[in-house]
Amino acid sequence: MREELPRLDTHPELRQRLLPYCRLQPGRVWQDPIAGHRVGVLDATEATAVHTLMQGAKATLLINDPPYNMRVGQAATPQLPQLALDEYLTFSRRWVENALAVIATDAHFYVWLGADVRNQFQPLPDFMLLLRQYPALQPRNFITLRNQRGYGTPHNWMWLRQELLHYIHGHPPFQVVYTDIPKILRGYYKQVNGQRRENLARSKSATLRPGNVWVDVQQVFYRMKENVPGCYAQKPLAAIERLVHSSSRPGDLLLDLFAHAGTTLLAGERLGRRVYTCDNDPVFAEIAIRRLEHYRATGETGWQTRTPFPEVDVGV
Ligand SMILES: C[S@@+](CC[C@H](N)C(=O)[O-])C[C@H]1O[C@@H](n2cnc3c(N)ncnc32)[C@H](O)[C@@H]1O
Repeated sequence: MREELPRLDTHPELRQRLLPYCRLQPGRVWQDPIAGHRVGVLDATEATAVHTLMQGAKATLLINDPPYNMRVGQAATPQLPQLALDEYLTFSRRWVENALAVIATDAHFYVWLGADVRNQFQPLPDFMLLLRQYPALQPRNFITLRNQRGYGTPHNWMWLRQELLHYIHGHPPFQVVYTDIPKILRGYYKQVNGQRRENLARSKSATLRPGNVWVDVQQVFYRMKENVPGCYAQKPLAAIERLVHSSSRPGDLLLDLFAHAGTTLLAGERLGRRVYTCDNDPVFAEIAIRRLEHYRATGETGWQTRTPFPEVDVGV
């Protein structure tokens, strides 16, 4: 099975060919006529751009997945630049401050971030220290998702971790969403009078919380229906929907400043929330809009191996 559109960061020439098929020029915002979502081609580090997107509105749930400042996979391309750490922190400070300017008094603030094990876990710890400078944001959780490779394999080590930081602003409501995770793990066991006792009774409960290790969420790859060919950093819909369920209510406004494959947008659409989102690349803004339209037309959450740009012959 081969994806009809290769990763765009490894094919800059392909990206150029898709640009004429993108409906938005930089600086422009698409307004969804059906559910009121907005998608812009905007730079998250520019305050005026974020205000163009929000138009005075405040978001109660922010889910941001900025570039991680590292190469993803084996690719080393100009599309995934690696900044010096201080430059990356300047970039981070700018988008965080722009986000804080449009956050509701009571809101959840989630950030996906990478940690490069080969490079002092950069930039995750530096970003966490940066957030200490904003006392209005209080840490609530540090969530890790299932990893496919790593400890136990001498080769093919997973050098890139992706972690999910959860902060709160004010006192936002939180709705516990139950999961099957402890059932999968079969609970904990303990030794009682020298005998091993498994905590099976606990794992049969109907009210099991996800905790902070989400082993039930698979990273997206080409065999999954939700896969969006061309994208290189797509987040799992299941994870984002868990955030939307637990940290927002129907009708709430969600904000994602780094749209990419439009996963937050799709999650909001499926769960009855409005989403304002942007990407500074017109191709990803277009993909996000198309993914929403494709979902509305077919009920499919992605294209799996098919291309989101069927009108462009990419010749692979
Ligand atoms: C890690 S991806 C986001 C993945 C997304 N959560 C998903 O599930 O598809 C980061 C995205 O941020 C975009 N980006 C990079 N710098 C940006 C900036 N200054 N403003 C807005 N978007 C930016 C990139 O084009 C890329 O699509």
